[in-house]
Amino acid sequence: MADKSIGTESLASKKVKKVTRRLRWAFVGTGGISGTHILALQQIPEVEIVAGCDILADRRAWFLQQPGCQNAKVYADYREMLRKEKIDVVDVCTPNGLHCEVVVAALKAGCHAYTEKPMAMNPAECAKMCAAAKKAKRLLGVGFQYRFHAATEMCVRAIRDGLIGDILYVKVHAMRRRGVPNWGVFGRKELQGGGPMIDIGVHQIESSFYAMGEPKPVAATGNCWTFLGNKPSKVVSCWPGWDYKTYTVEDLAVGQVRFANGALMQIEASFCAHLEHDTYFWELMGTKGGYNWNTRTISTDLAGTMLNAQAGFLPEQNFGSLFVLKLQNFVDGILKGTPLRAPGESGMAVQKIIDGIYRSAEKKGAEVSID
Ligand SMILES: NC(=O)c1ccc[n+]([C@@H]2O[C@H](COP(=O)([O-])OP(=O)(O)OC[C@H]3O[C@@H](n4cnc5c(N)ncnc54)[C@H](O)[C@@H]3O)[C@@H](O)[C@H]2O)c1
Repeated sequence: MADKSIGTESLASKKVKKVTRRLRWAFVGTGGISGTHILALQQIPEVEIVAGCDILADRRAWFLQQPGCQNAKVYADYREMLRKEKIDVVDVCTPNGLHCEVVVAALKAGCHAYTEKPMAMNPAECAKMCAAAKKAKRLLGVGFQYRFHAATEMCVRAIRDGLIGDILYVKVHAMRRRGVPNWGVFGRKELQGGGPMIDIGVHQIESSFYAMGEPKPVAATGNCWTFLGNKPSKVVSCWPGWDYKTYTVEDLAVGQVRFANGALMQIEASFCAHLEHDTYFWELMGTKGGYNWNTRTISTDLAGTMLNAQAGFLPEQNFGSLFVLKLQNFVDGILKGTPLRAPGESGMAVQKIIDGIYRSAEKKGAEVSID
């Protein structure tokens, strides 16, 4: 059996799981991120990978060589896969523009649906997906792994224990100096819904929003700029040679969202911007204390002193181990009724924040309301 340890989990806490039922799992989209899902699923014995669908023959061939996929069936058309295979879970790893269509079809076919982030292109699509899940009485989960991060959980505990007080302001950073993906379709607005705000801002938004307790967003302002990504570049960078000719998304987006409880979230996200270094984190300020996700530090006043209390220990995690946690939560939701940490409704609330910023940017930064 695969090693089931996560980070620094002690050997003493390891238990051999008794698996009573294995979920029949199928992928739609067997590109880059499906590989991380497949590896994570090797650590979840309640899952059996039975099928994969991709429009590209080389991706189907690649899929069949992945661990646990050798006996799976492959398809070029997901509708044919849904018709022919007996599937419990459809895991959607396509570009964003297909998440809604595939999720709705999977739910209608009686499967549970899990979709990669962002949930969809816009809130209207999210609403369709949630309604389809409700109608089908199936679970819909969204691939928000950063709410499983130990630094996010530490903040949740600090808030729960009253160390932060009322949350006033959250600053969210998802900034790359020069990091336009040179694979996939990340520069194409018609297939992705937007650029860095929807693609990487979403990670920092979903986790900070979760820590805040998911207050209702009511209004947004924002601006978007494109000034580098749509031009050829000879500058040395980590992912050179992106397709600048089809690049229609923003390079840099900055927005502010107001919540019903009066709190504000400011978000900055970039694929390219002239800044000293990349930043991916958020910080939160309340009436009693603050929290910095990056340094895992609670800032408060104690013993007549402004004190910074940093975590002495948090479990070690990496990108892959966060995927194990997020997928295990979905599996447990199906098999044991465990509450989902990222259900469709939460994905829709995050999408409303992103969409509010994009809508405001289209109106030259005028405030827009969020329903
Ligand atoms: N959670 C995370 O940290 C994370 C990281 C990377 C990507 N993602 C998300 O995962 C999704 C996919 O990203 P990726 O990096 O794997 O992109 P990718 O381009 O590598 O893979 C997408 C795959 O979908 C396939 N596809 C396209 N149309 C299809 C269709 N009609 N039917 C079946 N397959 C189809 C493509 O051929 C491709 O192989 C995106 O929504 C992205 O935002 C999430």
